[in-house]
Amino acid sequence: MKHIIQSQDFDIQYLERLFKDTELIENMQGTYDGEESLEKMLKRKRIFIIFYQSSMRTILTFEIASTLLGAHVFKTENAGVFSSAAKGETLEHTIRVLCEYKADVIILRHNDEGAAQRAVRVVEKNGFKTHIINAGDGVGQHPTQSLVDLFSIRKMLGRLNEITVAIGGDLEHGRTTHSLAYLLSRYNKVKLLFVSPPQMKMKKGVLDHLREHGVPFEETDSVPRAFKEADIVYWIRVQKEYLDGQANEQYSRDFIVTEDHVNMMPENSILLHPMPIDGEIAKDIEDLPRVRFFKQASYGIAVRMALLCNMFDVKL
Ligand code: NCD
Repeated sequence: MKHIIQSQDFDIQYLERLFKDTELIENMQGTYDGEESLEKMLKRKRIFIIFYQSSMRTILTFEIASTLLGAHVFKTENAGVFSSAAKGETLEHTIRVLCEYKADVIILRHNDEGAAQRAVRVVEKNGFKTHIINAGDGVGQHPTQSLVDLFSIRKMLGRLNEITVAIGGDLEHGRTTHSLAYLLSRYNKVKLLFVSPPQMKMKKGVLDHLREHGVPFEETDSVPRAFKEADIVYWIRVQKEYLDGQANEQYSRDFIVTEDHVNMMPENSILLHPMPIDGEIAKDIEDLPRVRFFKQASYGIAVRMALLCNMFDVKL
């Protein structure tokens, strides 16, 4: 795959190879020789990390992954303020200039849905070799986070088929939930339960895709139901940056995950969250055995290393 833009583009074969490579990389990282050979994989590749929206995990894990693979990393955080965008430059011009700088990869996070696709158009129209990675495009998608999420499920639950996944929170604006639903639709006997307040329901495009692919799903506003029925509960915060400063009262009242919810979970089921957490998970449950989002976050580096290696078809 030249560009990583949306989760619908990954097929099972790609995903399985990626996850095997991720495990291989995790093992290599434990040894001196392994780390040394990893450092040669992307030697002297030019990786530009251009973020117009805030980030901690995604920006750092991409930077760490690129560095551990030996690439040169050039980064601008807060590009909307510090880059020429502040002077009115278009995204298209910025991307074209980075391609002229011989960028091998541009990892882009942007406020607007479709921004990564626009970057791809610039690359293809001008015949550049540059790869584009969507690191979050507004309320669109966040495909690499969903790879981390899927890898976590596979690792922690031991399977990706025959599972019930409850995805809860601000599903309208939460791009990670869109990408995850698309990925899960690839697997057999997956059932999805979308849990949200009525004004934050899952996007129509995602639901249409699930219908087309015969993936059973239900929408509910019952939080206890999610915790009683699911093998995986995946929770996200209210994406306040897309709302008009209105604290959502129903959300803050009814959508905080507490110990009572975790106690309702079937044996072996797990609670995941892409983080950051903004009050929607009670503080006193973070260390319960079924609450695994810190472990989930830890996979972000190896998954992104595997993704970059696959992009350049390097043999591990
Ligand atoms: C997510 C994002 O940026 O969409 N964060 C992340 O990358 N781990 C989730 C969020 O911001 O709620």
